[in-house]
Amino acid sequence: MTLTHHEVRPGDLDLEEFRRVGYEMIDAIASYHAGLDRRRVTPDVTPEDVAGRFTEPLPAAGESAEALLADWRARVEPLSTAIGSPRHFAFVNGSGAMIGILAEALAACTNTNAGAWKLGPAAAEIERQCLRWIARFIGYADDCGGILVSGGTMANFTAILTALRHVAPYDSTPGGLQDAARTGRFLLYMSDQEGHVSVTRVADMLNLGRTAVRLVPSRADFTIDVGALDRMLAADRANGDLPFCVVAQLGSVNVGAIDPIDAMADVCARHGVWLHGDGACGLLAAGLPDLRDRFRGLERADSLSFDAHKLLGVPHDCGVVLVRQRERLRRAFSISAPYLRGETDDDNRGIDYFEYGPQMSRSFRALKVWMVLRHFGARGLRSVFAKNIALAHHLHDLVRSHPDCEVLHQPLLYLYCFRYVPRELRGREREPDIARAVDAINQRIADAIQQSGLAFVMTTRIRGKVALRMSICSHRTLEQDIDATFEAIALQGRAIAARQFVV
Ligand SMILES: Cc1ncc(COP(=O)(O)O)c(C=O)c1O
Repeated sequence: MTLTHHEVRPGDLDLEEFRRVGYEMIDAIASYHAGLDRRRVTPDVTPEDVAGRFTEPLPAAGESAEALLADWRARVEPLSTAIGSPRHFAFVNGSGAMIGILAEALAACTNTNAGAWKLGPAAAEIERQCLRWIARFIGYADDCGGILVSGGTMANFTAILTALRHVAPYDSTPGGLQDAARTGRFLLYMSDQEGHVSVTRVADMLNLGRTAVRLVPSRADFTIDVGALDRMLAADRANGDLPFCVVAQLGSVNVGAIDPIDAMADVCARHGVWLHGDGACGLLAAGLPDLRDRFRGLERADSLSFDAHKLLGVPHDCGVVLVRQRERLRRAFSISAPYLRGETDDDNRGIDYFEYGPQMSRSFRALKVWMVLRHFGARGLRSVFAKNIALAHHLHDLVRSHPDCEVLHQPLLYLYCFRYVPRELRGREREPDIARAVDAINQRIADAIQQSGLAFVMTTRIRGKVALRMSICSHRTLEQDIDATFEAIALQGRAIAARQFVV
């Protein structure tokens, strides 16, 4: 077959139009980024306003690419939260490295399905290379197995199902939890204060029941009490239950706590339990020489997870799971059907990622990870991470020296919480009314900062008290962003406290 000229096939754009609108889109993306610093972080709209803007029926006739771009400009971009803003401190979101935007377009160009090697030979090898690079960066075995998934929750799911399959005292693949060989409740463990709710979500997805997640007491620095863990595992086993997995927090969601993984590995080895490190927020910090010691024993974890869409800045979404022994991951997910492979014993195939994780069809996530990693380089990554951690220390200094702020923890990574306590109420928080009022002040401060559009700050609870929480997860954030946000918090705090208490 010879094709002598380009012919527009049904559903495609004319190439001239594609080029014209494509260049315009690049201009729109560049303008968006040029204005990020001045943009409101959260749009000033109600859910009703937004719902009212998207009510039209599906158009009967197709629309031009120009019209679609114009509409993106008119109502999508203005009604989107500026997650890429240097003052977006909510949840744990990276800013989206710009090279990742281009990578997303290129991944869509080939419409690669990274589920099967034959659907994307380059994609499969690039994914493997990314996993090797990441493992080497953090000091994990670089011949480990692993896979890219949608985020930290799915990474934890992938690891914890692998743990269950591996540790269960019978082959749990055919009969699962309903197998007659099951002799007790499958249990998993994490720390009580800073263990992440995604682990509870995983217990749900595995239908273990939420109470299968056993909460282990933590110490003053929010890390798990390893002695208590040891005793709980022994008691549960003596009770006829089946402890199968311990989840270490490697950079916890509120205070960035890093559990003592080496000591946990000793306990897990003694009890024959899988050790998973949830490093969604913090795992990459293991690549920083100054923090390396905190991650001592990391190489002993059976599996690790982290979110590439957090500190690494890969555009949403992308999570990573690493499993020390690749074959265990494959055994947990391997599945076959005639239409997946055909009947020939075909040697000409590499790794089929549908055998290593929950998805069959998969987007070419690896391309954006590969490009972001290469764009920063190992040195660049270390310097961005070190900068963000230094910003958390800077915020800590501001908090420490302010008469209306209470320090709740030492900063370790880029996640930091503190509490606004008007000086007039200091020392009175044992009175329940006062404690509740201070909780309310903190929530109102966060609401006011959000409404102002300057920054996006949220609250959380630290040992039961409402605290302001800032995740300094953007590669764009500078000291001036922290200063402006802290100043606004202090001003709002004073004004809210004055209204509430006439202080
Ligand atoms: C420690 C930890 N684990 C897991 C997750 C879940 O990640 P995701 O939201 O990507 O599913 C998060 C999210 O912030 C997290 O902080």
